[in-house]
Amino acid sequence: MKKRPFGYEIRLRDNTIPEFDRRIERRLSALRGQYLDEAAFAQAVLNGDPLVYEVYEIHRPQKEGELLSGLSVVHPGLVGEEFYMTKGHYHEISDTAEVYYCLKGHGLLLMENEQGDTTAEEFRPGRVVYVVPGYAHRSVNLSLEEDLVTFFVYPGNAGHAYGAIEAAGFQKLVVRRNGTYELIQNRAWARKAPGIG
Ligand code: F6R
Ligand code: ZN
Repeated sequence: MKKRPFGYEIRLRDNTIPEFDRRIERRLSALRGQYLDEAAFAQAVLNGDPLVYEVYEIHRPQKEGELLSGLSVVHPGLVGEEFYMTKGHYHEISDTAEVYYCLKGHGLLLMENEQGDTTAEEFRPGRVVYVVPGYAHRSVNLSLEEDLVTFFVYPGNAGHAYGAIEAAGFQKLVVRRNGTYELIQNRAWARKAPGIG
């Protein structure tokens, strides 16, 4: 663990952090239950379970006062009419924010809170998205050609809580329509989370 101030390179030639401490890769099977088209999902998992996204992290102590940062790379692709995306999560310590800075590609950060508010911010190179505390967040790659590459930074003590999203998904689904995208209501969400919305 570094004790003195440090810097690191984000290498956009191959969308990586060469000095990463941890690399997480998530294949489509990690997103079970999240896509509307269950047949298309099952077929794609059977046909090789494609790599949907990767995360490169710089390790720091997971405590208040520290910041965790790294790179998120969501590859292009569709499952039925829905775009490749991250699992999405709340922070375990809900009173913690996060900042994303888009370096490459075109996408969305889908966000919602436990009171039922839902919103999305577009990712384009140079755009920052600030996730206020209490909002679950999921990156969606809207391009079918390019990776969506974002830099993120969040408090060291935030932690990740995946359970609510694994159980009910997000309220909105992002689907391809007429060469662009549209947000539609996730009917499964209303069914699984009857107390909200
Ligand atoms: C950290 C954060 C990002 C995501 C990454 C992968 O709090 O929001 O680093 O962890 O984009 O997404 P998940 O964690 O939802 O699989
Ligand atoms: Zn987060």
